[in-house]
Amino acid sequence: MKEVKIETTLEVYDAINELPKAIQDLMNTAIEAREHAYAPYSKFNVGASILLDNNEVVIGSNQENACFPSGLCAERTAIFYAGAKFPEAKILKMAITASSQNQVTDKPIPPCGACRQSIAEYEIKQDQPIEIYFMGAQGKVVKSNSLANLLPLLFESSVL
Ligand code: THU
Repeated sequence: MKEVKIETTLEVYDAINELPKAIQDLMNTAIEAREHAYAPYSKFNVGASILLDNNEVVIGSNQENACFPSGLCAERTAIFYAGAKFPEAKILKMAITASSQNQVTDKPIPPCGACRQSIAEYEIKQDQPIEIYFMGAQGKVVKSNSLANLLPLLFESSVL
């Protein structure tokens, strides 16, 4: 038996204003997107914004459905839109913010497992890491230098 240790390094910023202006702008775009989330069931609004290497910014918010599994998370809404609209562009950065309608969300909310797997697909496809920033409605912001860093042992197409 051999023990394998997997390490992840994240940067944690106390507040959004500690980040470079360009990242603040990207996060503010995600906050705007979050405000347009359609979340009547969970009352949990999530917004995502993506910066592409062609300088375009693509946004997404969670879109829920009365048939719950038919809804989609903000991150996948955004990344699928980016893939559909700008298939040749590389994804440089992604900002994510979440805010409950019931309580103050003051801790960073990371993308769910399914979203991590979906983002991983694009990171592998473009062979370039995607920087990911995530926060709640206020407070700390976490930065990951890549998606792989957030999803060790990810499933990839080479095994198919
Ligand atoms: N949600 C996201 O949009 N992104 C995540 O990474 C986690 C969860 C949404 C899905 C659902 O609309 C609501 O948040 C509660 O799960």
